[in-house]
Amino acid sequence: MGKATQDLRKEHDAILYVLQILNKMINADSFDAEILLNYYDDVVYFLKIFADKCHHGKEENILFKELINKGVPNEGGPVGVMLQEHVQGRNYIAQMEQSLDIKNIEGFKNAAMLYSDLLRRHIEKENNVLFLMADKVINEQEQNFLFLQFEKHEENVIGHGVHEKLHSMIDTWAEIFDVE
Ligand SMILES: [Fe+2]
Ligand SMILES: [Fe+2]
Repeated sequence: MGKATQDLRKEHDAILYVLQILNKMINADSFDAEILLNYYDDVVYFLKIFADKCHHGKEENILFKELINKGVPNEGGPVGVMLQEHVQGRNYIAQMEQSLDIKNIEGFKNAAMLYSDLLRRHIEKENNVLFLMADKVINEQEQNFLFLQFEKHEENVIGHGVHEKLHSMIDTWAEIFDVE
């Protein structure tokens, strides 16, 4: 497994963990609505910064471009499908935000479930199909180079301070919503 795809797989694990927490949050009925809305708001922040800007950014701007260079089909092929799913994910996040703006808890839950379902299936396809393909066509040296670009991208969109903040948010949620 190359260094670049390994980094993305690690991020998939973090995203899946947060989706597990989100699932607990939307089924938690012993919490005050205002408190839950604040948690929902924080999860949306995580999904926008970490899952979309950082992770999908690495895929779209760096890995997918390299795959297309190597001849993996974009439109009508696996890369095109992944890109469409990123767009669909952004639509669901926008629906989640709109629901939070008007404190529509049911609307939020509905969009959050659609998002989780989409992302779980998306991650499964990347882990089991696209990244295996990537490991075949991108050699180790090239993967190391992609990884360096990932690090730069991460520093640009997240930076050290926000990274720490996201980690501590996840730890707090895991404790409050009892997720191992
Ligand atoms: Fe993706
Ligand atoms: Fe991904």
